[in-house]
Amino acid sequence: MQHENLKQILEDAKGQLQEAKSEKDAEEVRIRTLGKKGSLTDILRSMGGMSPEERKEFGKLANETKAEIEKYLAERMNELKKAAQEAQLKSEKIDVTENGKSFELGSKHPLTVTIEEMTKVFRSMGYSIVEGPEIETVWHNFDALNSPKNHPSRDMSDTFYLTEELEDNFLLRTHTSPVQIRTMLEKGAPIKIAAPGRCFRCDTPDATHSPMFHQVEGLVIGEGISMADLKGTLHAFAKAMFGSDTRIKLRPSHFPFTEPSAEVDVSCFKCGGKGCNVCKDSGWIEVLGCGMVHPNVIRAGRLDPEKYSGFAFGIGVERVAMLKYGVDDIRLFYENDMRFIEQF
Ligand code: PHE
Repeated sequence: MQHENLKQILEDAKGQLQEAKSEKDAEEVRIRTLGKKGSLTDILRSMGGMSPEERKEFGKLANETKAEIEKYLAERMNELKKAAQEAQLKSEKIDVTENGKSFELGSKHPLTVTIEEMTKVFRSMGYSIVEGPEIETVWHNFDALNSPKNHPSRDMSDTFYLTEELEDNFLLRTHTSPVQIRTMLEKGAPIKIAAPGRCFRCDTPDATHSPMFHQVEGLVIGEGISMADLKGTLHAFAKAMFGSDTRIKLRPSHFPFTEPSAEVDVSCFKCGGKGCNVCKDSGWIEVLGCGMVHPNVIRAGRLDPEKYSGFAFGIGVERVAMLKYGVDDIRLFYENDMRFIEQF
């Protein structure tokens, strides 16, 4: 009778182990069969009531059964462990040949591209690139630049002041020319700098005006610097920027901080001077203001105008970018429409 039970226990254990789907299932079978309250353990306890011969024979058989279950259990555990590992390997597998996720690359803003191009030309001519603050004193922006107290550009309708005062006040610089003063005061002579930066004027935005725009300021100070140096420099710049056939034309003009002063036109790079829609049929395009640095400005920079002379220029970055890339509305630069910005 008990022998039959042993056989049954062995069969049950085998069957259940076969059905076990995980090591945990198999462990439960072990506890049910071989654990303290397990079916085989139970049956061994009942040996107390047997005769010595019976006990000897039954004990042997029970031990064999136990050994067989343990062996089977170990095998099955092994199998299940392997299967679990394989499943894990499969689910965590990385296909290194799979295509990567693509992501959008940003691009440089057209004004950044233009400023970089312009400063690269000046660097190749031996200029240092410097920068000045966008918030300036009235003194740096106007007084030191020889601007008369009653000059219209000082009006609140033209200049963004930070408070209501006209004197002893701060403002958003109306041009990059205050960098001339800062450089003279900080570095002394000789000087050869180009200073790109943002400028601000109270202009109502339209196709060619923006209250915020950019300039690249140039300043060269040394002994015996002449207008011929200015002209040669600007011609070299225009050729590097707009093509080797480009010609320039200086027209007399007026700025408080230069004397003489000039406005510079470049020959139209689209039509070569014949006249077209870009140059409005004139063959020429205005791109910058310039002149020989006024002695009062050199003095404001604590240098001796008897010893030093120099030239300065201020180039409109938006203007250059519009002409170079055929952009017909300045506002496009500030709207951050990706369809526009990505084209450069
Ligand atoms: N600052 C002038 C402007 O904003 C340009 C300029 C710079 C002219 C240097 C002469 C010399 O229009």
